[in-house]
Amino acid sequence: MRIRVENKLAGELDYLVVTRFTGSESVAVGLDEKTTELVKKVKSLGGAEKFLETETILYTDGGPAKRLVVVGTGKPADFDVAKARQLAQTLTRSLRKKGAKKLAFAFESADSATASDLYQALAEGVVHSTFEPGFYYTGENKDEKVLEEVIFLTNNDAALKDSVERGVVIGEGINLSRYLANETPNNMYPERLAQEAEKVANEVGLEFHALDKAQLEEGGFKAILAVGQGSINDPRMIVLKYNGAGDAPYTGIVGKGITFDSGGISIKPSEHMDHMKFDMSGGAWTIGIMRILAQLKAKVNVIGVVAAAENLPGGKAYRPGDVIGSLEGKTIEVLNTDAEGRIVLADGLAYARQLGATRLVDMATLTGAIVVALGNSVTGVFTSDQAWTDLFLKTAQNAGERAWQMPLFPEYKDQIKGTTGDLLNTGGRAGGSCTAAAFLKEFTGGVPWIHLDIAGTAYTEGEKAHQAKGPSGQIMRTMVDFVIATAEGENK
Ligand code: BES
Ligand code: MG
Ligand code: ZN
Repeated sequence: MRIRVENKLAGELDYLVVTRFTGSESVAVGLDEKTTELVKKVKSLGGAEKFLETETILYTDGGPAKRLVVVGTGKPADFDVAKARQLAQTLTRSLRKKGAKKLAFAFESADSATASDLYQALAEGVVHSTFEPGFYYTGENKDEKVLEEVIFLTNNDAALKDSVERGVVIGEGINLSRYLANETPNNMYPERLAQEAEKVANEVGLEFHALDKAQLEEGGFKAILAVGQGSINDPRMIVLKYNGAGDAPYTGIVGKGITFDSGGISIKPSEHMDHMKFDMSGGAWTIGIMRILAQLKAKVNVIGVVAAAENLPGGKAYRPGDVIGSLEGKTIEVLNTDAEGRIVLADGLAYARQLGATRLVDMATLTGAIVVALGNSVTGVFTSDQAWTDLFLKTAQNAGERAWQMPLFPEYKDQIKGTTGDLLNTGGRAGGSCTAAAFLKEFTGGVPWIHLDIAGTAYTEGEKAHQAKGPSGQIMRTMVDFVIATAEGENK
C-alpha cells in the first residue's frame, strides 16, 4: 500500500472520503465543484453530524471516484490526534473490507498549527488499518482485500509530506510489533524472536546481539534461566542498540518477552490461556520502537533489551519454594511460578544498565491486577522519577494514548520481603500491580526508571471498528515521542 500527498485528484478512485466539522460552513479544499456541492448539501441536511457518522453517495454521472463518503469529525474543539488516528483506522478498515483498492481523503482543515500532527496521525491510522491477524488462513478464509493506494488531498503538500512519511514509518513499526506479537507460540519462541530482532537490525542499521543459554549461564543471568528452564526452547537476552546522539546518555528500553506463559508449575486455568502468546508484547514493542527510532534517524541513544523465555511446567521447571539468584546478585524466593515476568525483567533491567543505560523504561504484560484497576484502554505507569514521568504523561496525552500513574509507596516493598531469599516474587493479591512494580524497582540500581504495565492494553479480545482483533501496539507512539523528548530536554 502506498500513501501519496496530492493537491488534485486524478485516476480511478473507489472512494473519496471527505470530512466535515459540526457547525462549520466551509468545505475541504482541492475538491471539484460537484463534490463541493454534494458536501454542502449533506451539511445542509444535517448528515454526518457526529464523529464517525457517515453519508455515502454514488457519483451517478461521472466524478473523481465511484462513491463519495462524507464523514463527521464532530466539533472542531473536540477533534485531536487520537480522533484523527481513529477516523483513519475506522474508515480505511471498513472501506478496505468492502473491497476498496484506491482511496482518497480530503480533510476540512482544523487548526493549521496542528496540521502536521493531524496528518501524521492520519497516516499512522491508515497503515495501522492494514493489519489483520489471520496469518495462517487458507483457501477462502484468506483475506485478499488489500488496499493499493491512499491519497491525501491537501493544498500544502510539500510541508505535509514529511509528516505523512513520519506517520508511515511509525505505523509500519507498530505493525511489525503487532506481527511479532500475533505470531503463534509454536513459531514464536525466544530464538525466533532473536532472529526477528536481528533481521530488523540488519534492515535499519542497529547493533544487535543475543545471549544464548550458554552465554546466559556464563554471565550469571540466573533469574531468566530459572524461568526458562522448564521449556526445551531456551531463553535469550536480546539486545538492539541505536547510537544517534554521539556520546549522550543511553535510555534503556526493556521488554518482557515471555513467548508463552502457561504459568509454569503454578499453572493457569485453560480458559484464555491462548492469550498468553501475547506475553511477549513488551518485547515486540521494544523491537518496533528501536526500528522506528532508527528509521527516523532520531538524535537519541537507546539500548533495547528483550528478556525472552518460555514459561512451561515440566520435569526441569522451576518450582514454588525455589530460591534463585539473579544478575544483580539479589536472591528471589519463588512463591508462584506464574509471576515470571518480573523475574526475567530483573535480569533485563540489570543487563541494560551493564550495557550503559543510565535511565530505564520497561514495558510488560505484567499483571492481571492492572486490568482490574485500569481496564483495557489505559496503560499503568509506575516510577522512581516523578519529573521524568510528568514528561511521559504529557507526551502520552499529546500522542492521544491513555496512561495513568499508579502509586509506588514504600509499604509495597514490605509485602515482598522474603523469608529464605531477599525478595518474594509475589506480594499476594492486595495491590498486585504495585507490589510487582516494587519488585522491579529493586533491580534498577537507583537510576531513573518508569515501568509500564501493558497487560490491559497490549491486545484486544474482540474486533473493533478501528482495530483488528489481537495485538494493538498501544503506547509505542508515546514511547517514540518520549525517548526523543527526553533527549531533547537534555540538550537544552
Ligand atoms: N502474563 C501474566 C499477566 C497477564 C494477565 C497478562 C492477563 C495479560 C493478561 C503474568 O505473568 C501473570 O501471570 N501474573 C500473575 C501474577 C500473580 C501470580 C502474582 C497474575 O497477574 O495473576
Ligand atoms: Mg505469569
Ligand atoms: Zn506473564
